[in-house]
Parts: sequence; structure tokens; C-alpha cells
Amino acid sequence: MKSRRSIREFSDRAISKRLLVKILEAASVAPTGAGVAGTHILVLEDPTIRRKLREICERGERDWVDSQPESVRERLSNLPGFSCTKEYIETAPVFLAVTTRPLDPEIPYAVESAFLAVGYMLVMIEGMGLGTVTYTPSFTRVDDEKLLDELLDLPEGETVQVFLPIGYPKIKRESKPEHGFYNVYHNQFGVPFTIET
Ligand SMILES: Cc1cc2nc3c(=O)[nH]c(=O)nc-3n(C[C@H](O)[C@H](O)[C@H](O)COP(=O)(O)O)c2cc1C
Repeated sequence: MKSRRSIREFSDRAISKRLLVKILEAASVAPTGAGVAGTHILVLEDPTIRRKLREICERGERDWVDSQPESVRERLSNLPGFSCTKEYIETAPVFLAVTTRPLDPEIPYAVESAFLAVGYMLVMIEGMGLGTVTYTPSFTRVDDEKLLDELLDLPEGETVQVFLPIGYPKIKRESKPEHGFYNVYHNQFGVPFTIET
């Protein structure tokens, strides 16, 4: 967990089915809101679907980035390997889509549960020496979102929460400093919780 970093460029080395199954198993044992299993994981293997998906996602991402305030665009440009050109959609050895039905009253906490499944997968992926990035596709046009749902043949109400391109990292990234980049520990809100070492 301490060594994990987001990976946006992958080597060509294939991933064995055995490792892929371990990643999927990790998702399947994550906690779920009210014990309802409402998260689905699509293993996208068809190259034609991935090519079309890339087109839709790249257009959406460019529109979205253009609509962001300067401060956000600046941060995005500093993320290692971040680009509106999403080569990994086509080329990553494994490409997963994590979907759920956010507005379905029969799936309480659908989005939260989907993200916990993602967290479990991130840890398993790192533990096996692989890399990924939590890619949340962004769109500003409803039409593009519809195209995405149609391309993936999603049932009514089911939407993509996260894509996970998975592969062996092209470049090894530095771990974060010992206590992370952020001030995440608090005593009361805004009062740092100090750690004596
Ligand atoms: C909810 C969430 C959404 C994210 N969406 C994207 C994304 O769409 N594209 C991307 O390249 N990275 C995305 N990231 C990755 C973050 O940019 C990354 O986690 C952050 O910069 C910290 O770096 P690290 O993962 O190396 O620790 C996302 C991360 C989270 C938690």
C-alpha cells in the first residue's frame, strides 16, 4: 500500500489469467452497502470496442479539461503521464470497467461499494507488481455518456464508475513520503493529530 502510485504507461508484457482472477476475486470480497452485491466488473477484451471507447473517452476528456478552472488544469498537467490522449484504453494488457446502478433504491450505497471494490483491486494489483490508475471518465456532453453506455451494452441505469487499465509499469515510480502528501490526520477537524516517533 505504501509503494502504490498511479501508473498511466504500461509495458507490453501480458498478464496471466491467474493474476487477473486474483484481481477480480479481491473485488468480490470487498464490503458492500447493506450486503447487496451491486458492483459489476467488465473485462473488456474486444479490440474494436476498446478502439471506439478510446475515441469517446478522449473527446469527453478534452471537453472536460477545457471546461475546468485554470488551477485544476494546472494540477492535471502535473500528474505523471496524464494526457487527454488515452492510449492505454487500447493497449493496456487488461482493461476493466467497474459499473453499478447509482440511483437504484435496491442497491444502497452503490457508488461507495463500487469504489471499495476498486480499492481492494488497487491493493491486489500493487501486491502482484502490476500497476493501474483509477480512471474516472469525464464527459460534458450527455450524448457522449449515452454512446459509452450503448457501446458497453449497459442495462438502463447502469453506469461506469471507474476504468482500470492494468499492466506492468513502464517506469517504476517513487513511493510517497512516509506520511503521504496530505494532511490527513486530525484530532478535531483542523487540529493536526501528531504522531510521536
Ligand atoms: C476518485 C479518483 C478519481 C481519479 N480519476 C483519475 C482520472 O480520471 N484520470 C487519471 O489519470 N487519474 C485519476 N485518478 C488518480 C489520481 O490522479 C491519483 O490517485 C493522485 O494524483 C495521487 O497519485 P497516486 O495515485 O500516485 O498516489 C483518480 C483518483 C481517484 C481517487
